[in-house]
Amino acid sequence: MLPAKFIWKPLVQKIVTGQWNRFHMRPIVPAFPDNLKRVGLYLHVPFCKNLCSFCPYNRIEYDDTLFGQYERAIHEEIELYRSSLNQSEFVSLYIGGGTPTVNLSGLLRILEHLKSAFSLSCDICIELHPSNMDAECLQSLKDLGITMLSVGVESTSDHILKNIGRNHDGKTAVDSLRRAVRIGFDSVNADLMFALPGQTIQDWENDLRTVVSEGVDQVSTYPLFSFPYSDLGQAQRIRQIKRPDSRAVRSMLGLTQSYANQSGFKRCAVWSWLKPAKKKFSSITRHHYIGFGPSAASMTGTNFYVNTFDVREYAASLPKKRPIALSMPIDRRLEMAYWLYWRVYELKILDNDFQDLFGKAFTLDSVFSNVLKPFKLAGMIGKKNGGYYVTESGAYWIHRLQNEYSLNYINRLWGSCRRKAWPSEVFL
Ligand SMILES: C[S@@+](CC[C@H](N)C(=O)[O-])C[C@H]1O[C@@H](n2cnc3c(N)ncnc32)[C@H](O)[C@@H]1O
Ligand code: SF4
Repeated sequence: MLPAKFIWKPLVQKIVTGQWNRFHMRPIVPAFPDNLKRVGLYLHVPFCKNLCSFCPYNRIEYDDTLFGQYERAIHEEIELYRSSLNQSEFVSLYIGGGTPTVNLSGLLRILEHLKSAFSLSCDICIELHPSNMDAECLQSLKDLGITMLSVGVESTSDHILKNIGRNHDGKTAVDSLRRAVRIGFDSVNADLMFALPGQTIQDWENDLRTVVSEGVDQVSTYPLFSFPYSDLGQAQRIRQIKRPDSRAVRSMLGLTQSYANQSGFKRCAVWSWLKPAKKKFSSITRHHYIGFGPSAASMTGTNFYVNTFDVREYAASLPKKRPIALSMPIDRRLEMAYWLYWRVYELKILDNDFQDLFGKAFTLDSVFSNVLKPFKLAGMIGKKNGGYYVTESGAYWIHRLQNEYSLNYINRLWGSCRRKAWPSEVFL
C-alpha cells in the first residue's frame, strides 16, 4: 500500500493550487516582464569567506577574479531589464547572499547602478555577516540608501558557534549588532538559530536576552533545518549527526514566544518578532519580484523562473543570453495560491491585499473557502474584520505543514540546480 503522504500531499496541493500534477520546470526563457506595477528587486551575492556546512543557500568561496566576472555580468543583467521595468513602481530592493559585503566596493558599484537604472526610492534591505561589517562599511551602506539590515548572529556562545563551524566568536557577533544599532537604520534584525547541536535551553535564553538588550528592532529565530543536498545533509547521512528532536524545538520556540512578549515584541511572521511601530525586515513581502545574480528567482505573475546557480556559467552567458536555468508558467489560480502561501507565513491574510492584486470579483472566501474553513475549525486561523490571521497555536503547526511542501520543492529545485548549471527539467 502507498504511504499516506503520497495521498495527502497531492490532495492538499490540489485543494490549495487547483493542480494535481507535480510542477514542471523547464529550460525555457520567458519573455521580459511586461507592465509589472509594483515590483520588488532582489540581488544575490553568492560569495562568502567561510562556507558554513549547515547553509543551504547558493554560495561559493570568495575569489577576486570570480567576483570580477560576477560583477561585470550583474551590471549587464541590470541593463537587460532596464527598459522592461521603466513603468514599474519599486517597493523594495533586497540584497541577500552569501555575504553581500564581502567585496564592499564592488557591492557599492552594483548598488549605485541599481539605484540609477530603476530610480529607486524604496526601502533597501541587506543581509550582513558579523565579520564583514565594520563601522566604515555600515556608514557607506547607510550613505548609499540602505534602510534595513539583518545580521547573522546565529548564537552568542563561542562553543555553539564553533560547533556549527562559524568563523567568528560571540563577542564579534554582539559587537557587530551594537555598531549597526548605533549607526542607526530604520530597522535592525538579528538572525538567531536554535535547536543547534550542543545548545541548551539556558544557552538559548542567553542568546535572546543578549540580542534584545543590544536594542535590535526585530529578532528572527530559525530552528536548524537540514536540506538533504546541503553539506549538513550529506554529513548527517554519513556521520549520523544527532539533531535536536521536535520536543526541543517546541520548548525553545515556547521560550522565544514568552520572552519576546515580555520584552514588548510582537510576532510578525512564523519565526520573527518585531517591536511595535517598527518596519518589518523581510525577504518575502513582495508578490512580484525580479532577481539578479546566480540562483536569483523571479516571479512575474505569469512566470516563475530561476537563474543558473553556477557563477561562471552565469557570467559566461551574459550579456548575450539571459542566465535563466528553469522556468514554469503560472496561471491565475496558482498565482493566488502562491500569494496565500506567503501571507500565511506572515500570519496575516487580508481581503483588501488580495483584491488589490486579483480584482474585486474575488474574495478570500470565494476562492479559498475549502482551505480556510478546516484551518479555522481547527483553531489554527481566526477571522477578523478584513480577513484572517494565524493564531499563536496555529503558527507552529501551519509552519510544519508548509515545511513539508516548501522543503520538498526547494530540495528538488535547488538540489538539481546545484548539481547541474543547466538542468534539462525538474518536477517539483
Ligand atoms: C544568508 S544567511 C545570513 C547572512 C550571512 N551570510 C551570515 O551568515 O551571517 C541567512 C540566515 O539564514 C539562517 N540559516 C542559514 N542556514 C540555515 C539552516 N540550515 N537552518 C536554519 N537557519 C539557517 C541563518 O540564521 C542565517 O543568518
Ligand atoms: S550562513 Fe552565511 S556565511 Fe555561512 S555559508 Fe551561508 S551565506 Fe555564507
